[in-house]
Amino acid sequence: MWRVLVTSLCRLVSPVRPGGFRAVSGSAGSDVMDLSAMRKKYRNDDEAFEEKHLISLDPITQFNAWFQEVSECPEIAEPNAMCLATSTREGRPSARMVLLKGFGPEGFRFYTNRDSRKGLELETNPFAALLFYWEPFNRQVRIEGSVEHLSEEESEKYFHSRPKSSQIGAAVSNQSQVIPDREYLRKKNAELEAKYKEEEVPKPPEWGGYIIRPSIIEFWQGQTNRLHDRIVFHRQEKELGPWTHRGEGGWVYKRLAP
Ligand SMILES: Cc1cc2nc3c(=O)[nH]c(=O)nc-3n(C[C@H](O)[C@H](O)[C@H](O)COP(=O)(O)O)c2cc1C
Repeated sequence: MWRVLVTSLCRLVSPVRPGGFRAVSGSAGSDVMDLSAMRKKYRNDDEAFEEKHLISLDPITQFNAWFQEVSECPEIAEPNAMCLATSTREGRPSARMVLLKGFGPEGFRFYTNRDSRKGLELETNPFAALLFYWEPFNRQVRIEGSVEHLSEEESEKYFHSRPKSSQIGAAVSNQSQVIPDREYLRKKNAELEAKYKEEEVPKPPEWGGYIIRPSIIEFWQGQTNRLHDRIVFHRQEKELGPWTHRGEGGWVYKRLAP
């Protein structure tokens, strides 16, 4: 059933690849799927993303410009979906998708369960990386910075702005904990739906928001000839290094080789 649904959904959005993929022998003797011919046309050199094309020399304003553009693209269902990478104190990384729920000069916001794996990693190592990839535009944005809790007040406000079913879902789920089966979730969900039928769902104390205060923001624009454009902003450096330019709002920027 799932297979049929996925196949028909993907036919709607992507051309069928004739012949599919071939299995080839991997180094350890096991078969691997050969994807070496998967290549997509990006853009032409005259559509390059150059410094003169920056809407602003403040990367938050530049991010806003790209975000507005991609948000208008119907092919991008969730432009605010981003990969969040965290790491243990020992430096073991982990990554997952979350939704960006706000951004501005202060930083980038998302909400989650603070007792989850990401939450626990952020408690001991309060630094994270965010990654957006907007495929129809061949654009990638990388953000790195330190992470802080949003206030309880802001977390409460956002929690109660969500549909009631999502509030109950958050209360049901001890995110990242092992559970016996799906039935366990169904039962707990039904119990809480009944309990809070006429009442407001209290925000679980461990549920809340984070803000990533960026120190690096990189804008990447894919080009057909693989001479991709990379313009990276850093927080003000004491002295401007070679080929580094002063931006706005305490940022400097430079171009990186693709
Ligand atoms: C598109 C997408 C958006 C998601 N958004 C969130 C989110 O905003 N907050 C969240 O806690 N989990 C979100 N998830 C689920 C996470 O990817 C992840 O499964 C969950 O947070 C547990 O991660 P952890 O065990 O690493 O803490 C989202 C997943 C997807 C695919």
